[in-house]
Amino acid sequence: MGSFFILGGNKINGEISIGGAKNAALPILAACILIDGEKTIKNVPNISDVRVAVDILRDLGLKVLHEKNTVTISGKISKNTISKKYSEKMRSSITFLGAILGKLGEGECYFPGGCPLGERPIELHKKGFLELGFEVIEETEKLICKNKNDNKSRIGANIFLDFPSVGATQNIILASVYAKGSTIITNAAKEPEIVDMVNFLNACGARIKGAGTDEVIIEGVAENSLKGCEYIVMPDRIIAGTYMAAAAITNGSLILKDVYPYDVYPIKEKFINMGIAVTINKNSIAINAEKPIRKVKIRTGTHPGFPTDMQAQTMALLTQAEGTSEIEENIFEARDKHVKELIKMGANITSMLNGRHFIIKGKANLKGTKVLAEDLRGGASLVIAALAAEGKTEIKGIEHIERGYENIVGDLNKVGANIRFIN
Ligand code: UD1
Repeated sequence: MGSFFILGGNKINGEISIGGAKNAALPILAACILIDGEKTIKNVPNISDVRVAVDILRDLGLKVLHEKNTVTISGKISKNTISKKYSEKMRSSITFLGAILGKLGEGECYFPGGCPLGERPIELHKKGFLELGFEVIEETEKLICKNKNDNKSRIGANIFLDFPSVGATQNIILASVYAKGSTIITNAAKEPEIVDMVNFLNACGARIKGAGTDEVIIEGVAENSLKGCEYIVMPDRIIAGTYMAAAAITNGSLILKDVYPYDVYPIKEKFINMGIAVTINKNSIAINAEKPIRKVKIRTGTHPGFPTDMQAQTMALLTQAEGTSEIEENIFEARDKHVKELIKMGANITSMLNGRHFIIKGKANLKGTKVLAEDLRGGASLVIAALAAEGKTEIKGIEHIERGYENIVGDLNKVGANIRFIN
């Protein structure tokens, strides 16, 4: 797959435009299964996870035209099973099951398989499907959802989630759009990407209220009544945060254009606590990190808490803070693959509570070496650390980084980094 070679020490300075959000584009592409007529989705990041999503849609029988950042979808699905080869490639393939159930009233998917972030159970997805009236059967490799109702109809339900899971919230919304009556999700996830998926569904004729709050109400509409539209995916708040950390670790300054600043508030607050100047404008964020970075304590949480998807990148930044910082990872049980690689580069990080609590002592002298990206955001954290390291860092496992960043090399080189991709 090749490697990134990064020569550290250059200051980041300039302007980057932020593209569409992976975590909004994927459920929006899944939602297209529910909708008749042509759908044109713009600002879709051209990343490997999106290419898997396009393969899933084609495999289900839809006609998909994928040109750079635009995906146009037409036709109808002709089968109700997500093939094993795609389920294995992408964990969020399970979100396509909710849309299949919403459209056809029955469906199957293979288990997404192991995950570098630890055990990732799906009992909340299953609970949602069960309460919507599906018979949920678990085989060794497969999840099968059958439907004994007349005409395989879906029936609205009141569903309480004991944890606000993003994927389960999306799956329940997708499965209940055509349900008879209303579905109420209590303790729903509030992430902005859920709001974006719901805005798309509503633009196509769905009646969903409360997205972005902890109670989402889906009023079922007539079967197959949703009609295609053109939709622009929201900007990626995690890419924005990643580039903010990249600029800050080099004591640089950066303007991020085409962002929704409000969605970046939880990240912005911590950056301000670190002594970094952050200025918010209508669709842009400017940061200036000329002053020394200050230590902070961070607890990841569900939105609007600090996003777990920014934990690793912020940890890389905190290796350069004055004093001792702490990070508590509260969402995933094993989101720590980057820690040993950062330590290889010279970071002083102690991991406690089985990788849920980290003590980061700054300011460390990072040195370039060979490191391995084992997951998407952990990989991005190594890019950030390498920008501040003395000498050359080689990052392997970059296919993980390319799952979520369309052009991290081009973007950062444009603002002063020295990164080469060598195959
Ligand atoms: C989504 C995002 C991911 C982000 C995460 C949390 C996408 C494609 N991915 O993942 O980038 O890190 O939200 O913001 O949008 N859980 C259960 N049982 C379940 C479902 C989840 O215990 O049935 C647990 C998970 O194991 C995990 C936590 O809940 O520890 C969060 O998972 P969830 O919110 O579902 O995240 P994803 O939708 O998988």
